[in-house]
Amino acid sequence: MGDEECSDRRFGGCYMKGNHTKSKIKIVTKMVFCRKNEIMCGIVGYIGNKKALPILIDGLKKLEYRGYDSAGVAYIENNNVQIVKSVGRIDVLENKLNMKSSTTLGIGHTRWATHGEPSEDNAHPHISNDGNVTLVHNGIIENYQELIHKLKKHGYHFYSETDTEVLANIIDYYYKKYKMGPIDAINRTMVRVRGSYAIAVLFKEHPDEIWVARKDSPMIIGESDSGSYLASDVSAILKYTKKVYYIDNLEAACLKSNHITFYDLNGDIINKELKTIEWDVTASEKNGYEHFMIKEIHEQPEVISKTFHSYVEDDKIDFSKSGLSGDILKDINHIYIVACGSAYHVGVCAQYVIEDLARVPVKVDIASEFRYRNPLLSKDGLVIIISQSGETADSLAALREAKAMGIKTLAIVNVVGSSIAREADYVLYTLAGPEIAVATTKAFSTQLIVSYLFAIELAYAKNVIHKDKYHELLSEMNLLSNKIEDFLNKGIKSIQKIASEFSSIQDAFYIGRGLDYAISLEGSLKLKEISYVHSEAYAAGELKHGTISLIEDHTLVIGIVTMEDLYEKTISNLIEVKSRGGYILTISPNTIDVSKVSDYNINIPSTIKYFYPSIAVIALQLLGYYIAVAKGVDIDKPRNLAKSVTVE
Ligand code: BG6
Repeated sequence: MGDEECSDRRFGGCYMKGNHTKSKIKIVTKMVFCRKNEIMCGIVGYIGNKKALPILIDGLKKLEYRGYDSAGVAYIENNNVQIVKSVGRIDVLENKLNMKSSTTLGIGHTRWATHGEPSEDNAHPHISNDGNVTLVHNGIIENYQELIHKLKKHGYHFYSETDTEVLANIIDYYYKKYKMGPIDAINRTMVRVRGSYAIAVLFKEHPDEIWVARKDSPMIIGESDSGSYLASDVSAILKYTKKVYYIDNLEAACLKSNHITFYDLNGDIINKELKTIEWDVTASEKNGYEHFMIKEIHEQPEVISKTFHSYVEDDKIDFSKSGLSGDILKDINHIYIVACGSAYHVGVCAQYVIEDLARVPVKVDIASEFRYRNPLLSKDGLVIIISQSGETADSLAALREAKAMGIKTLAIVNVVGSSIAREADYVLYTLAGPEIAVATTKAFSTQLIVSYLFAIELAYAKNVIHKDKYHELLSEMNLLSNKIEDFLNKGIKSIQKIASEFSSIQDAFYIGRGLDYAISLEGSLKLKEISYVHSEAYAAGELKHGTISLIEDHTLVIGIVTMEDLYEKTISNLIEVKSRGGYILTISPNTIDVSKVSDYNINIPSTIKYFYPSIAVIALQLLGYYIAVAKGVDIDKPRNLAKSVTVE
């Protein structure tokens, strides 16, 4: 990397410490992050006949789970663009604003930075050199260094470390060069930039319009009698309208207070279908719970039942809405599940259930590996992408990879109209409703339900199971939400007590065999995500091949023991741990006797082996939650995490 590149550390070159003589240059991996400083943010906008600032602030608060280290708004007052930015939570911004302003038009942004301190310079909105263009952006511009050099040659200068400021200036550059108005400038910019973006733009010469465009980053546009709205996701505008439009990649729109016009990349006007959102606004409120996470944990019985009954009627599974028929299923001979984070753990559980029930081979991949592993996929295979948000970049890229290889794709997704949902061949929606807490709970549980239904329908379509087994499995699934409701009512107290005993632990190990191992992965992630305790999940039989060396007096080992056919093996693994001084906390149904090994036991309702992950995970979520509560950390917005990562 030449010195000229390193001379300006503001723009993603090497990170130099001290003077610039070669020997002192130190390339730090952080540089990669530098290019990704807009990894996940929330944008919102409004133009209409109401006061805009309260709507912007309210929307940004709803989007705070997407990023919460700095924020800003831009609004028009007396035909001038006013910009107010702040470091910290939205409350800080709200206190800085003159909320009495009568402006009825504005855009807002809440940021989540990974590199460079959150600062007012780096916070959005960003403005072009002469203030002609002001914008907010969610996503990343890959070729912004190249654009900076181009714009510098045309006399532009830069005040921030962000790729977004480049966007404001390149739009201004085309606006002035071709004098063809906003849509021409935006379309030329979309052709010129590489990367992902959802942008909302104000043009000084068009003070009664908000312009938007997107590629790969999420954006929804709302319409109501009181005006037009835009947001990164519907929870920010649900309070004002349920009538929304989804714009596709490389499309733009002009929002006026009483009209919205859509454009394609040629600048031609296009029609978009107006959709109605099923969710209601209370879904995105805390309803008296201390945290969204515990509220969403308590919503699981209801959303599990809703999701189950959205596919099962008269004791029969119906995937027809997705287009996934029995004929298609019976010809599928390979399953490839690809996902990230907790969704990947659903995939690991689904692998056990599908292979055992339908006898179809299943491979489970982490999306960020799948997309570069040049996988060998069989033509008679099906790639299943699991994602709550439907916007996780690695999962979206894996979907496109599979499609490019000519393999059928199925998406199991929670957000209607999300990119993954719209690009997959088949979609099975989960009905978890909006999930606000960064650590997923109810979406995870509904993904399990859809995975079980998929396994049962596949097994039936392939004549591996017959009617009796089919009905036996469905009737047991139909009992799950009540069993979980019951457990939530009766089990919480004992888990709170156990959690308070372990609130000062530094390390924990989760072990199990078969499906118990699969769900222990999620248990371990939940503890890590929200309480920052180091924890690992292991196949119980694997411990003695190395990791058991880490077990010493009072090391907490959480054993999930629900698989009756693996009972003895699991118990003997727990005895191995106990004999090295480990503290054993077991999670087991009362049909299984763990008294020989457990120092603490969380008793869960019994069910059929395939469905134990759905019950055990509730205990695991609560354990992680209450240990985090005891540690007093920010449960809904854990450090360094975001709800879904929309760039690679
Ligand atoms: C992470 C979230 O950013 O993305 C996890 O914090 C989630 O909870 C993972 O499991 C994958 O997200 P999604 O939306 O694709 O399921």
